[in-house]
Amino acid sequence: MDSDPTSFTPETLDPLAGFRLDGQVVLVTGASSGLGARFARVLDAVGARVAIAARRADRLDDLATHLHDPIVLSCDLSDPEQRDALVPRVVAASGRIDVLVNNAGRSESMRALDEPVEHFRDTVELNLVAPFALAQAAARHMAEHSIAGRIINIASIYGISGVGRIPEAGYSASKGGLISLTRELASQWSRREIRVNALAPGWFPSEMSAEMFSDPRLAEWIVEKTPLRRPGQPHELDGALVFLAGTASSYMTGQVLTIDGGWTAI
Ligand SMILES: NC(=O)c1ccc[n+]([C@@H]2O[C@H](COP(=O)([O-])OP(=O)(O)OC[C@H]3O[C@@H](n4cnc5c(N)ncnc54)[C@H](OP(=O)(O)O)[C@@H]3O)[C@@H](O)[C@H]2O)c1
Repeated sequence: MDSDPTSFTPETLDPLAGFRLDGQVVLVTGASSGLGARFARVLDAVGARVAIAARRADRLDDLATHLHDPIVLSCDLSDPEQRDALVPRVVAASGRIDVLVNNAGRSESMRALDEPVEHFRDTVELNLVAPFALAQAAARHMAEHSIAGRIINIASIYGISGVGRIPEAGYSASKGGLISLTRELASQWSRREIRVNALAPGWFPSEMSAEMFSDPRLAEWIVEKTPLRRPGQPHELDGALVFLAGTASSYMTGQVLTIDGGWTAI
């Protein structure tokens, strides 16, 4: 690195170059539906070789038909053995991993007074423990091979503020923990040039949110409370995702990029 930090000269004047991932390998968990399926297609479109993981193999096979050179990995991330084997499987298939998108997650609305502790624990296991284990495995590989890797944790507005009307104690705790984990891993791994950031979506249509959006009173409440007066559309996370995955965000780590129509601004 140049000893005078003020003399930095950009390699290119094309700002879009930092949004390409040609020749890089990305693992997207929870790619069988919703946001994860979209993330896989977008990362494929900007040049990455994409490894897609989830439990439903048939869904992954369907998605694979839309990708250039996919790696399809059926995997239950609640099972520690399958979880721990996932990053090694990506490396075995592709030789490397440059970007990990920790997207797989579960949520089920219930009042905290009724939420069984076991349900809370299972949610934290999938939404927080699994992302840590995968990040650790990916970072060990990146550090060993001097890869300036990126880890993107898909958090939520539930990790930033309370919601109440759609109650999710375990989910909130898991997403808040994921945001704290993002900051700590970024702090620990920055000297290894591994960047860790979180993407926190607001309300987006998916299998996870389908039941909520099918209740007209809740759908209306969300529109009323969102400054931009509507839920997000899946493509409205594309730019933020690719920004965090590419060198466009090379001076950013330990941050939360919140794409929520202004929900957390008020
Ligand atoms: N939609 C929203 O409004 C919203 C807002 C904020 C944050 N998020 C976050 O975005 C992420 C994606 O959610 P989504 O809305 O796209 O919901 P979704 O369509 O239900 O997707 C969840 C994904 O996680 C996978 N998954 C669940 N349990 C798994 C397990 N044990 N092992 C492996 N994969 C598992 C599912 O695949 P299989 O069932 O095939 O395993 C599926 O691909 C989640 O982390 C969620 O918390 C969503």
